[in-house]
Amino acid sequence: MSKEPTFNSIDPKEKLKLAYQDVQVAKSYDAERDFRDTDVSLHYETEIIGLRQALKEVNGPILEVAIGTGRLCRRLRDIGPPDMCYVGLDVSLPMLNEARKSLKENPCQASCRFVMANLFAKLIGESADSFGAPQTRPVHLIRADAFQMPFPNESFHAVIGFRFIKHLSPSNRRLIYREVNRVLIKDGSLIFDFYGWRRRTKSQEGSRLTPVTLRAELEESGFKLTRIYGTRHLLPALLSSPFRALRFKAPVRALGLLEIKILSPLDELFDRSRGGIAVAKKIK
Ligand SMILES: C[S@@+](CC[C@H](N)C(=O)[O-])C[C@H]1O[C@@H](n2cnc3c(N)ncnc32)[C@H](O)[C@@H]1O
Repeated sequence: MSKEPTFNSIDPKEKLKLAYQDVQVAKSYDAERDFRDTDVSLHYETEIIGLRQALKEVNGPILEVAIGTGRLCRRLRDIGPPDMCYVGLDVSLPMLNEARKSLKENPCQASCRFVMANLFAKLIGESADSFGAPQTRPVHLIRADAFQMPFPNESFHAVIGFRFIKHLSPSNRRLIYREVNRVLIKDGSLIFDFYGWRRRTKSQEGSRLTPVTLRAELEESGFKLTRIYGTRHLLPALLSSPFRALRFKAPVRALGLLEIKILSPLDELFDRSRGGIAVAKKIK
C-alpha cells in the first residue's frame, strides 16, 4: 500500500509555497504585520530605507521574487529612471491578487498626492516617498516558481527577495542563489533579508546567519557580499515604542536611519547581526 506524504515530510520550500495559497492568509497578511501604509513600524521603515539605499545605483530592470502583497514595491516606485521595468513574481495567486489591488490605488487620488509630496520633497531636498507619495510606474506581476523562473539569462539588474530566502534551508538557499545568479546580469545585485545570530533557536540553526557565514555561502554561489544593513537593534526598538504608539512616523524613520547608518557597520565589525538586509553582487 502506498504511503501518503504527511505535511511534515514535505520539503520546506514546498511548505512555504502552500502556506500562502489561502485567500484569508493573503487578505490579512499586511494588517497582521503592520505593513499597511497607515501603520507605523520601525522594522518596515528600516527595510524601506535599506532597500532604497541598496537600489540607489540600479538603473535597469528589477525583479522582486516572492513579491507577496507588493508591500515593498509600492514604496519603491520612484527609484531609477521613470521607464524602468519592475517585475513582481510570486507562486500564490491570492498574494498576487492582493498585490494587484494594493498597487492599483485610485489613480486620481494617487497623482494628487504625488504632486503635493513632490513639491514638499523638492522644497527640503528629500525623496517624495518620505511623504507617503504613491508612485505611478506600472509593476508587472507574474505567477511562477522562484526556483524555476520563466526569464532568459541575464534579464535583470537587481533581484529583491524579502521574507522568502530567509525561510529556506541552506540547501534550498543554494538552489535559489543559483537561479537568481542565472537571471542577473554580471555585477547585478541580489538584495534579501536574513535572520541574524539571535533571531532563531538552536533547532533552526540553518536559518541563523552571521556576516561571515553569509559571505561564505554567497561566494560559493558566485556572489560577493558587498553590504549588510542590520535592521533589528535593541536601542532603536525601545526608543521608537512611544512614537509607534502615538503613530508618529518621522521619528520612527529617523531611528531607522540610525540602525542603517550607524549600528549596521558595528554588526559587521563584530560579526553579530541580529538580522538584516544583505546586498550581494554577482561576480560569476
Ligand atoms: C512571507 S511572504 C513574503 C512576501 C513579501 N516578500 C514580503 O516581504 O512581505 C512569502 C511569499 O513567498 C511566496 N513564495 C513561497 N514559495 C515561493 C516560490 N517557490 N516561488 C515564488 N514565490 C514563493 C509566497 O507565496 C508568499 O507570497
